[in-house]
Amino acid sequence: MNIDNLQKQFVKTFGSQPQKTFFAPGRINLIGEHLDYNGGYVLPCAISLGTYGVVAQRNDQQINFYSLNFPNSGIIHASLTNLKYQVKHDWANYLLGMIWILVKQGYQINHGFDLLIAGDLPNGAGLSSSAAVELLMGKILQNLFNLPINNLELAMNGQKVENDYIGVNSGIMDQFAIAMGKQDQAILLNTDTLQYQYVPLQLAEYAIVIMNTNKRRELQTSKYNERRHECEHALHLLQQDVAIHNLCDLNKAQFDEYTYLLNNDTLIRRTRHVVFENQRVLQVQHALMKHDLTTMGHLLNASHISLHYDYAVTGKELDTLVAAAWQRKNVLGARMCGAGFGGCAIAIVKQDSIDNFCQQVGQQYHEVIGYDATFYVAHIANGPQEIK
Ligand code: GLA
Repeated sequence: MNIDNLQKQFVKTFGSQPQKTFFAPGRINLIGEHLDYNGGYVLPCAISLGTYGVVAQRNDQQINFYSLNFPNSGIIHASLTNLKYQVKHDWANYLLGMIWILVKQGYQINHGFDLLIAGDLPNGAGLSSSAAVELLMGKILQNLFNLPINNLELAMNGQKVENDYIGVNSGIMDQFAIAMGKQDQAILLNTDTLQYQYVPLQLAEYAIVIMNTNKRRELQTSKYNERRHECEHALHLLQQDVAIHNLCDLNKAQFDEYTYLLNNDTLIRRTRHVVFENQRVLQVQHALMKHDLTTMGHLLNASHISLHYDYAVTGKELDTLVAAAWQRKNVLGARMCGAGFGGCAIAIVKQDSIDNFCQQVGQQYHEVIGYDATFYVAHIANGPQEIK
């Protein structure tokens, strides 16, 4: 991203000089899918693609937003005197939600600002563009108003914005991964306790390739909420006989012993994904510590298969990309990433064959699906920051 150009665009849009520039990354998840609302482990990392924000303070209560990614929306005007969700605020609701929640918690945000944003993260592609925007806003507010709030608290507030302001019932993984991101490290997070540790991501001659299906994800929210309800239902039935608080508290032996309580093939499949995926996260962590990338690749493949057959969140586009990746030489593993039903998958590809990989997988995808996939190499990056 060309920062000089962003600052010029700010002057052109708002007719004043920008004061500061910030960045918040997107995220990928190595493994641990659909576990963050089941109290399980996840292993995400922040990436160098993300969202930039150029800002200048105002003397009044007005807040003006402009996105170079949504020029047709024009400048979106809002005010600190009314921070309620409004449909007309469109994409700016993710930013306004962050202001709303911090003001509600008593943080002093006593004047407005003009903010221009631009991202190189594909929108709605499962790389958490919305969480990136929330954390970008959080970082800007923390900095401009000297708020005594840390990145972990910003992450938890970002999740509240999704749940209480936008109305998406998502877990903590995306905001946490972005807020706590560290260069070349994955984050092993226990989503029940929020205890975490960094796991060095040393991939030797391999790199992570992000494969975007470019599929629109219409059904995503309703299907996502449906999975959450299925897990809650399964938990409720199991709790009749087992003392567990989350579905991820169930170990493999308990899964064998108690699934008769579920007595329903859908609930058994959902639970099986959750229990086994949770184990795979720890296995991938161990594999990474031992530099055993081959085992890591196998576990990623197993994750995709489980998300396809047991959790049923992949779909033709993701399956086509992942199957095409599996067929290539020099690929250790591949799986869908994020909520599913479209969005992105990741593959661990030998660096010197990435061009060939993208060309071959891209061609196969186009032949089956009828439009192009897009490929990016993921660089594992730091969390939200001011760019000086
Ligand atoms: C979305 C949600 C996350 C998580 C993933 C699936 O990205 O925002 O909280 O549930 O799906 O792992």
